[in-house]
Amino acid sequence: MITSQHTAEFLQHRAGASPRISAAEAALERRSVRKFTDAPVSEELMEQLLTLVGRAPSAYNVQPWRFVVVRDPVLRQALQGAAYNQPQVGNAPVVIAIYSDMEDALAHVEEIVNPGLDAAKTADTVAMLRRTFGGMTDEARAVWGNAQANIALGYLLLLAETEGLATSPMLGFQPDQVKDILGIPASATVTALIALGWPDEEGYASHRHDIQRVASFR
Ligand SMILES: Cc1cc2nc3c(=O)[nH]c(=O)nc-3n(C[C@H](O)[C@H](O)[C@H](O)COP(=O)(O)O)c2cc1C
Repeated sequence: MITSQHTAEFLQHRAGASPRISAAEAALERRSVRKFTDAPVSEELMEQLLTLVGRAPSAYNVQPWRFVVVRDPVLRQALQGAAYNQPQVGNAPVVIAIYSDMEDALAHVEEIVNPGLDAAKTADTVAMLRRTFGGMTDEARAVWGNAQANIALGYLLLLAETEGLATSPMLGFQPDQVKDILGIPASATVTALIALGWPDEEGYASHRHDIQRVASFR
């Protein structure tokens, strides 16, 4: 059983520790990996990793991302079916479903207000958030929330790499089936599935645009 005390201890320990590799090295070395060894990934390590992922920023600090960590082989088998039978879903020790749940975030909007604010500023912020999101269509809110959850996805891929874990992010799945299998609310948006484990292949050599192709400096 992992308690918030364990998480606090981990964060304290982690703050002073160097990562296994740096973020820059992880960015250069990360590749999608679709074959994993049989070595398990502990629930404790997953909780620690997701604790760091939860440090991702989001607009208004809404943090609409939610995670389902799937280790159960029967559930992973079912998810593989929902993911067009992509083999990495069945053979990874862990599959994470990351989704955005704006309804849950807005039902508890006071949770996201900085506790350092005084009562009047807290009330103003809550009212502003309710006005902002209440004025959007359900669809626009879902798109907005999914964009925030993708920030957490990027954090997850990079942070996993710094710990020596390999990942395979996926959009190739049928979201309604994934929601049914995992009990994710119908109104939520499934951002990605991520197969995760210890690598048993290098993955394909990746290529990227030159910086001049995608950035301009003025
Ligand atoms: C959001 C997202 C969805 C993806 N969906 C799939 C997928 O369904 N199946 C798959 O095999 N790879 C998938 N990929 C992997 C990409 O093809 C891969 O990241 C890209 O070709 C770059 O290669 P690299 O990850 O090895 O650097 C996805 C990647 C991302 C970021």
